[in-house]
Amino acid sequence: GQPARLVVVSNRVPNPRASQPQAGGLAVALSGALRRRGGLWFGWDGKLSPGPVNRPRVERHGNIDYATLPLSRQDYDDYYLGFANEVIWPVCHFNLGAMDYRRSYAEGYRRVNRLFADALTPLLEGDELIWVHDYHLIPLARELRERGVRQPIGFFLHIPFPSHELLRALPGYRSLLEDLCRYDLLGFQTEADRHAFEDCARQGIGALGETDGVLRHRDHRLRTGVYPVGVDINELTDLAGRTVEAPRVRRLVQGLGERDLIVGVDRLDYSKGLPQRFRAFENLLQDYPHRRGHTVFMQIASPSRTSIVEYDELRQRLEGLSGHINGTYADLDWVPMHYLNKTFARGSLMGLYRAARVGLVTPLRDGMNLVAKEFVATQNPENPGVLVLSELAGAAAELDAAVQVNPYDIDAIAAGLNEALAMPLPERRRRHARMMEVLRRGSILEWERRYLRDLAEP
Ligand code: UDP
Ligand code: G6P
Repeated sequence: GQPARLVVVSNRVPNPRASQPQAGGLAVALSGALRRRGGLWFGWDGKLSPGPVNRPRVERHGNIDYATLPLSRQDYDDYYLGFANEVIWPVCHFNLGAMDYRRSYAEGYRRVNRLFADALTPLLEGDELIWVHDYHLIPLARELRERGVRQPIGFFLHIPFPSHELLRALPGYRSLLEDLCRYDLLGFQTEADRHAFEDCARQGIGALGETDGVLRHRDHRLRTGVYPVGVDINELTDLAGRTVEAPRVRRLVQGLGERDLIVGVDRLDYSKGLPQRFRAFENLLQDYPHRRGHTVFMQIASPSRTSIVEYDELRQRLEGLSGHINGTYADLDWVPMHYLNKTFARGSLMGLYRAARVGLVTPLRDGMNLVAKEFVATQNPENPGVLVLSELAGAAAELDAAVQVNPYDIDAIAAGLNEALAMPLPERRRRHARMMEVLRRGSILEWERRYLRDLAEP
């Protein structure tokens, strides 16, 4: 019969009418996944309002109903910037030094999750599948159950799950674990994340492992599973094929001449390993002098969470590093480092990936990293570029045919770059074909299909 209506909930909901591009793996993945099945997409519209608003604005686009709310300044500060991005995000990305905990943030987090539950409950009809996304909304299942919602509720975590010893540093972490245990199905990017969660649930709140992938806590049966986020190969090759011919990209390629292009694309975030990456490029020019004059590194760093101090400091640091590299190495006819502190439309990025000889993706920690998969998917199979990938990104578990490096080891990144630039065509093709096989098996539509099949199962 008809599949149940899908209700997706996430903090970040892209504006379907905006020409303004939206950076971030979650928005990209969900836009791709929802395209086939359609449904209701509920969350924050990215705007601020003078006071709290609890009646969502509902708007249909294609087969998706967007139901969105603005946040009050206070909620934005306490819940979004504060608890989500200055407490949970740094802990899940191995960076306790960036954690800034306040009790008011924890209160704001509860408050907005209550507000979301209040606003969502009246939109439910009774027979949906509810799929909640990411670390902003961990308490939502509990809030919905307290409002009498009976439908299956699943959760997918797009970011890494920390070990128990790390998580313990987060004040009130036990209540986060309790709240996670209220879902019916928890999805993770990698087996390592799933395993870390099970371990935390056992040690932190005494959940009991029943069988593989099933936990029991306070009479509730909870399933866990691994669902790596993927990409839509057809959409990406199509976009890349079209935009590699766009005037801007063609001018770039012409300007390169015989030079090799290394490309990096990230939100400007401390989890992405950008200072190490810049210094590794400097090491490449320093230690492999034959690369001087023949290699260009273009780094796109799209602004993100700019009112958080660590993000602002990082921006200044990167400006300093890229200025230093150009100051040291640039010549009359060659500028080695191009640093672009802005957001680009997906189409342009795909053309850029295809024009590049190396994709450089070196996060210190990352749930998945879609850029890595996009880079592979957009290469010309006859003459593919090489992916240099951090072994600490979720994508590394699947993309074993990439040149994998430790993102803290600047010399290793430089050596990996040199290896990638020198790699003969047959080996490039072999590695590319292996990774395409992986991407085909784990597409974004497969991700949605597998998760929802499991969530619908009793
Ligand atoms: N992206 C974009 N424009 C930009 C920068 C990034 O559209 O200027 C997209 C990029 O193509 C990718 C996503 O944003 O699909 C980033 O996802 P990823 O998983 O790599 O990292 P996240 O930002 O989620 O940490
Ligand atoms: C990561 C998170 C997403 C988030 C995105 C962009 O991908 O997993 O939940 O939406 O970054 O960050 P932002 O704070 O702008 O939503």
